[in-house]
Amino acid sequence: MDLFRKKSVDQLVAESTPLKRTMRTFDLTMLGIGAIIGTGIFVLTGKGALTAGPALSVSFLLAAVCCGFAGLCYAEFASMAPVSGSAYSYSYLAFGELIAFIIGWDLILEYALQAATVSAGWSGYFNKLLEGFGLHLPVELTAAYGTTPGVTTYFNLPGFVIVLLITWVLSIGINQTKRTNDIMVMIKLVIIVLFIVCTVWYVNPANWKPFSPYGIYTFQPNSTQPYGIVPAASIVFFSFIGFDAVSSSAEETVNPNKTLPKGILLSLAISTVFYVIMTLIMTGVVPYQQFANFIDAPVAGVILATGMNWLAFIVNLGALIGMTTVMLVQLYGQSRICYAMSRDGLFPKFFGEVHSKYRTPFKGTWFFGLLTAVAGGFININILFELVNIGTLSAFIIVSAGILWMRHTQPDAHRGFRAPLVPFTPICAIVFCLVLIAGLNWETWVRFAIWFGIGLVVYFAYSRKRSKLNGGEAAAETAAQTATV
Ligand code: ALA
Repeated sequence: MDLFRKKSVDQLVAESTPLKRTMRTFDLTMLGIGAIIGTGIFVLTGKGALTAGPALSVSFLLAAVCCGFAGLCYAEFASMAPVSGSAYSYSYLAFGELIAFIIGWDLILEYALQAATVSAGWSGYFNKLLEGFGLHLPVELTAAYGTTPGVTTYFNLPGFVIVLLITWVLSIGINQTKRTNDIMVMIKLVIIVLFIVCTVWYVNPANWKPFSPYGIYTFQPNSTQPYGIVPAASIVFFSFIGFDAVSSSAEETVNPNKTLPKGILLSLAISTVFYVIMTLIMTGVVPYQQFANFIDAPVAGVILATGMNWLAFIVNLGALIGMTTVMLVQLYGQSRICYAMSRDGLFPKFFGEVHSKYRTPFKGTWFFGLLTAVAGGFININILFELVNIGTLSAFIIVSAGILWMRHTQPDAHRGFRAPLVPFTPICAIVFCLVLIAGLNWETWVRFAIWFGIGLVVYFAYSRKRSKLNGGEAAAETAAQTATV
């Protein structure tokens, strides 16, 4: 049994569904920004500021550099094999089936749990918006158990409902059109620019001193959580996840070999500039220790500290729209990755069945929609985002290693885009990812190892026999019958 049976570029391209090519650099950049800017900046900056102090902006730069190196590797893969499936498809090409399965399994963490994390962030802003109208949900229903120390919460009801609504929209085929996405992203950017322009006047440079109270990496007495620039970068890394979603639209892109890399790198660069400016302002307006008072909605908290309540209302609304687009892109991506894995025989057919009326992978969309809603409803956001980060960092490591491997094994394969300075670039990507993994809590490593172990069991118990490269389900059934005769 060949665990490392591979697909070729031609095979991947031949299997892809012919879709209309309409996406250009602008649309891809918008798609990237749509998937990137969300809970990371609107929610996790609170925890980030408490972890690194004003040096949070440096943490954002560190995470951006890591993503930049990995982004170049994604771009090279996307230009070699412009098919959807992202890291899953690339690993099938470079390392073969077992690693591809592991990455697909890993991407469930990246996509579904990411949407769950965003639903928790969404809920924080939704509750703030309701409070603005004098309405209050019972506090027990505002967040998952253990989210805010000292507050008794059990269930994130708003997040649960929004995920189900998005799932319904996706399942009946109202996909986010290019135009709707462009408009929503524009709203998000306008809100951010408005925040910058209105709050920059309230910066008090004294709040930036000391700039890096915890240095690079340190432990505080009585705390198992690391502090400093690196641990904060491991937290806010979440803010950059999503640029790889750009590569999933390879089959709908005009001239993907050139357009995809541009889309990936531009969306990363634009988001980084906004993030660094925003975090410098936020930690300049409010002393970083005070972020503990509004940890679930720090951008809103900073605005309220300036007394501009009208702006808080607009930004809350913008944050909600921004986070909705992120969830939409992630849940869409999730259903398509499972569709691809089911098409390859690695996941049950159920996930790949296309609804006769809506022409969507209806059951798969609902399966993961429900899973995401329940995860976001009951699991603490701090556990969720760390799992997403470790899952994504691992995918980045495999993609970067894949570039090293492909340059060695298939040096002459056509590449519309070549990552510069190979092997330096992928090696840097791998090293930065390992540094960021090191900045996460050890509990997260353990949870990830358990997830990884379950994945291996699923692969060996189910997927290996049913893989299309093994002759598919029919072959598996014949083998089973032969064995029983
Ligand atoms: N980068 C996305 C966000 O921050 C996942 O919400």
